[in-house]
Amino acid sequence: MAKTFHNFIGGRWVPARSGRAFTNSNPATGEPLGEFPDSGAEDVEAAVHAARGALRAWQLTPAPKRGEMLYRLGQAITARKEELARAATREMGKILLETRGDVQEGVDMAYLAAGEGRRLYGVTTPSEMPDKWAMSVRVPVGVVGVITAWNFPFAVPTWKIFPALVAGNTVVFKPSEETPEMGWHLAHLLEEAGVPAGVLNVVHGTGPQVGWPMVQHPGVDVISFTGSNPVGTKLAVEGARLGKRVSLEMGGKNGVIVMDDADLSLAANAVAWGAFGTTGQRCTATSRVIVHERVHDELVRLVVQRAQALRLGDGLEEGVEMGPLVSAKQLERVSGYMKVGADEGVRVATGGARASGPGLDRGFFFQPTVLTDVRADMRVAQEEIFGPVVSFVRVKSLDEAVAVNNATPFGLSSSIFTRDVNAAFTAMRDLGTGIVYVNHGTTGAETHLPFGGTRGTGNGHREAGHTMLDAFTEWKSVYVDFSGRVQRAQIDNN
Ligand code: UN1
Repeated sequence: MAKTFHNFIGGRWVPARSGRAFTNSNPATGEPLGEFPDSGAEDVEAAVHAARGALRAWQLTPAPKRGEMLYRLGQAITARKEELARAATREMGKILLETRGDVQEGVDMAYLAAGEGRRLYGVTTPSEMPDKWAMSVRVPVGVVGVITAWNFPFAVPTWKIFPALVAGNTVVFKPSEETPEMGWHLAHLLEEAGVPAGVLNVVHGTGPQVGWPMVQHPGVDVISFTGSNPVGTKLAVEGARLGKRVSLEMGGKNGVIVMDDADLSLAANAVAWGAFGTTGQRCTATSRVIVHERVHDELVRLVVQRAQALRLGDGLEEGVEMGPLVSAKQLERVSGYMKVGADEGVRVATGGARASGPGLDRGFFFQPTVLTDVRADMRVAQEEIFGPVVSFVRVKSLDEAVAVNNATPFGLSSSIFTRDVNAAFTAMRDLGTGIVYVNHGTTGAETHLPFGGTRGTGNGHREAGHTMLDAFTEWKSVYVDFSGRVQRAQIDNN
């Protein structure tokens, strides 16, 4: 029988008030993994109540001590890295090598945020008046609502929760219903690290039944969301109406530019890893290759060769290189784009259909797919597919490549392969994405650099890096006058 998991509210493990539950299952095998609370607004209410109750004491806990808890958490995650990675592969599908990386990204974030406990720098500046001191300090915003996707079920929640906590906020977290077990593990780890009751609360369930009430709840001050554009846009509109901050990380349509002087074998390896890693379900996945016409055919040949050599299967098995898509819904979505591409007249160089055969038939497997003869304005080159599908767009020059790269509704990451230093610097200046790589694919962001994108990818926020506190803090300017007089700024000294 599948194990039963609970919500974590006010330091207690509790079922949904309604008693309802949903089943979490393995996308590679269909095997049920656990029953999770199918929560509703009443559970959100209890979690927000607990988070507000814990806020004052947590804000008054010295930031270095909050940081130390995160440091201990980093150690605890490291000690359980393998167990967590296996659980992530079981519920999400990507291969063990990659879920180890996902968990490691959480460790990196724990240590980075822990250090922030002894920084949390403000700014001091001279006053224009004599005998007066001026400074600005960061203060926590209050209760943070965290809503995340399933593709990085461990790392992405940590990018939001750890900075929010070190800054002195409390959190209500809704993990994706596709990967609830990772949220459950995270809550356990925080409990073990000594984070007080109510500081982190986890409510399982769907977007409409849990996420939406979180956004609407007057006791939630900030929403930090990673997920699709339609949902993110809806949350931002609601946030604007209610006057609350909404930080969004959404889709990508990431391009790799390959110039005619590039190391083609390196570029092909990077494209294959960027396009087929995590079964293409990364917001940083390589979904377009914008390639100089002189090397187009050779690069297609090399990428097709790599795609055809990939071993598909259960990500827990040794030697498997690509797991399934996360759900039947995603399989349907990716398959649907094959029809879109066919109608647009693209050529399928390899793949293009559900993968079947021994060990694959009970899972949501899709063949690694290369589309060619793609024009930059076609839907397959404009819309996020979120599967192992890469489109080749042929160009004649660097200028054209940069223009094609920038002409999508998204702006997360992009890359150029070239040996020409001038071309590389031109691309670094002109590629209009939040992240730019040179001679490296579009994935592989490190936690100590800002993460996020332009245009439809986000709404101006950056997670992680030196920007990690921005969404979760307000600035307070403080003046201290020790002159003993009423000093009138702008008036008395002019
Ligand atoms: C995501 O896809 O939501 O750069 C995050 C990368 C990873 C993070 C991806 N470090 O691909």
